[in-house]
Order: sequence, then structure tokens, then C-alpha cells
Amino acid sequence: MPKTLIEPFRIKSIEPIRMTTRAERERLLEEAKLNVFKLRAEDVLIDWLTDSGTGAMSSRQWGAIMEGDESYAGARSFYRLEKVIQDITGMPYFVPTHQGRAAEKVLFTAVCKAGDLVPNNCHFDTTRGNLEYLGVEALDLVIPEGLQPALVYPFKGNIDLERVESVLREQGHRIPFGMITVTNNTGGGQPVSMANIRAYAALLKKYGKPFIMDVCRFSENAMFIKMREPGYENKSIREIVQEMFSYADGATMSAKKDGMVNIGGFIVLRSEEWLDAVRNGLIMMEGFPTYGGMAGRDLEALAVGLEEGMDEDYLRYRLRTAEYLGERLEVAGVSFVKPTGGHAVYIDAKTVLPHMPVEQYPAWALCNALYLEGGIRGVEIGSVMFGKRLDSGVETFHSMELVRLAFPRRMYTQSHFDYAAEVIAEVKQKAASIRGVKITKQPRFLRHFTCECDWA
Ligand code: F0G
Repeated sequence: MPKTLIEPFRIKSIEPIRMTTRAERERLLEEAKLNVFKLRAEDVLIDWLTDSGTGAMSSRQWGAIMEGDESYAGARSFYRLEKVIQDITGMPYFVPTHQGRAAEKVLFTAVCKAGDLVPNNCHFDTTRGNLEYLGVEALDLVIPEGLQPALVYPFKGNIDLERVESVLREQGHRIPFGMITVTNNTGGGQPVSMANIRAYAALLKKYGKPFIMDVCRFSENAMFIKMREPGYENKSIREIVQEMFSYADGATMSAKKDGMVNIGGFIVLRSEEWLDAVRNGLIMMEGFPTYGGMAGRDLEALAVGLEEGMDEDYLRYRLRTAEYLGERLEVAGVSFVKPTGGHAVYIDAKTVLPHMPVEQYPAWALCNALYLEGGIRGVEIGSVMFGKRLDSGVETFHSMELVRLAFPRRMYTQSHFDYAAEVIAEVKQKAASIRGVKITKQPRFLRHFTCECDWA
């Protein structure tokens, strides 16, 4: 049996990418204030900024789009998607939103108040932003293994149950619910084990707290469980997913990931307790409860995409692409978060640029270098994204300086990955000449999206 794991699809429609020269990229990056978020996508060769909403839809999804019922209230497309989601999650109440952060905003606004505290393995930036905006403390309690990039451990996304229990004991009155993010995006796209989900759920139950999952990448998490957790090797992805959801009281979802669509999201809830508040908020912020923030055609594409995202051949290929790039980086002597995550590879910038002080944002600098060298766009997950700038102007720096290369689903082929590996290896060779940055302009929240920089 041949070893090469092929893309389990053929390409029916293509989108040309535009080549640029290094001199052009130098000018373009300067014009973008050294912030790759400000680049035009057409000036990027390989766009690995995010796996969110960037994937290729299947011909079945495009076909479903024609079935979209655009009625304002009670559209057929809503009921079709509702049935799919009820089957996967086992939860009766499905609330569509236009993307994940809207689901967070609607749920948190309905349930949280200033002074509250929400534990999570690691909050993603929008989750943290939405909580902090409401005056809620977003507490990251991932296991210590999850913060050591080079350490190989099968479930680095697990939450530290001892620390969770002490927070529940000491600060329980502040906690409206506990959260967990699958996979742990901020910590390297690392999975959470079923055992950890089960034990965390039991702990929250003991203290009378609901359990909310951030499930953007639930299918990838399920595939990791199948591959790594004893007892799950013979279970189907659907069975594993259903068990994961069985422990939760609710979930927020960005359908732009494992929903395999370009836009969409939702909340699911097991009980009616918060439903009225959530739906009232939804009507104000997103739309009527049977479309939320989505068009009927988007609801249809998602109904198909959620099923396709759970296909085992697809998931095996999906996880293998990240692993393959990891193998190439290993050969080039580039450190990255190990094992590779589900949707992305996270390069450890502190080891690629050991000479650079954190004050010059090494992960941001590496991100810029990848663009200059080969037109590759990744994203910094380090101190620009997560360092705290206190009003005094004093910064605290993030524990890790990572550059995330996140792979749009079903979009790039093996030669794109080979090219990227070569570019990264060349950047590593030139590490001593790579320049750090300083921030010259920044907003109060989520500064990485819009900040302006200059060379340090
Ligand atoms: N939760 C997690 C774990 C995420 O990764 C994201 C988005 C969201 C929530 C918010 O969802 O974008 O649909 O509003 N992550 C993207 C990323 C943006 O690049 O990782 P959204």
C-alpha cells in the first residue's frame, strides 16, 4: 500500500495566485505599516493568515446554495440545518449567528456581568476580547505541558483540572460557566482529550456551573482523539463528536472552521434557561432567530459542510498536511509547537530569532520576514496579540512568541507546502539579519488587527 496520503478530492475550479518580487513586497509591507493584516490578499502568494472562512467549498455545497430559502422567518434552510446540528450536538436549541465572535457576544451579553470570571484552557482573542469588553476576567488554565512548544504530549490542549478546582472553590461566586476550546487554537491547535472533557464537565457540575464549549474545530479534535486516545480507535468521528457534545450544556461555534463554509456561526444550548435572553440579544445584534446573521444559502452550505468536515479520509489528510510541514521544518532545524496542530503549524519565533528581545516582538518580526522572503502570510500569536499594555504604558509579554501558519481547508496542495518549507528554511539561515519592530499606533482591544509598526 503506497504511503503517500493524497488529497481526497479533485480540483474543479481554480483561482490564480499572483507572483511578486522581493522588492515589491518590501514596498507593500512598508505601506502596510509592517502589519500583514493590512496587506491586500492579492499581494500574498500563500495566504496562511487563517483557516477561518478561507477554505474551498465542495460541489455539493455549491449545489446546496441554490436550495437556500431566503424567507425572513421560518425558512426551510433553518430547519434543515437545525436537524443536522441537533443530531451532531444532541442539543435542542440552535441559534444561528454570522460568525463565532457574534455567538460569543450574544451569549456572553446574555449571561455574564462585570466582575465575573470565565476559566478556559486558552481563550481565543475574540473570546477574551468579548469577555474583557464586558468587564469579565478571562482566565487561561491550560496544563503546563501546553505552554512548552518543544514538548511532545498527545493532548496539550487539556485544561489543568487542579487549578480549575481551586478557582471554582475560591472564586466560584464569580463564575457564570466554564469554557473549553477545541482544539486549543491559542496554544497551538492542540487537542483536548475526551477524558479531560469528561472530568472538567464533572467538576463544573459538582460546583453547579454550566459547561460551554468553543467548538470551532470539533472535528479535528475528534480525529486526534480517534488517533491518540485509547478506546476510541474504532469509533466513528460522529460517535466521538457526539460524546464530546454530550458533556456540554452549550457551545459557541465559528462555522468558518470545521463547518467548511466561508461565513457562519451558531450557539447551541441544552436547556431553555438562557434561551430567551440569547434570542432577544440575537434579534438586536444579529437577526431574527431563524436566520441570525446568515443568509438562507449560507445555512444550506453549512448543513452540508458540517457533515463533510467529519469525513474521516478528509480529516486524516487534513492532520497529515500539518504533520508533513512539521517534518520538513524539523529537517531545516526550525522549532515549532509539537506535535503539529490540527489546522496549523506554529513556529517558535524565540528559537528562530534567539538574538531578538521580546520588546521587539520576535514573532511579529518573523511573520514579516516570511512575507518578505516568500510572499507567505502567517499570523503572530505572541505579545502583540496577547501582551497586555496597561494604561501606564507598561507591557506584559506573552509566554510564547509563535507564528501560526494556518491552512485553509482543501485549498493548498503538497507543492505549496514544499515551497513554504523552503522559504522558512531560508529565513532561518538569514535569522541574524531579521529586524524587530516597535508599535507606533494601537487601539485598546485586539491591537494586532490594526496596529501600525516601524522597524525597532
Ligand atoms: N474561537 C476560536 C477558537 C477561534 O479560533 C475563533 C476564530 C473564534 C472563536 C471566533 O470565530 O472568527 O468566526 O468570529 N479564529 C480565527 C483564527 C479568526 O484565525 O483562528 P470567528
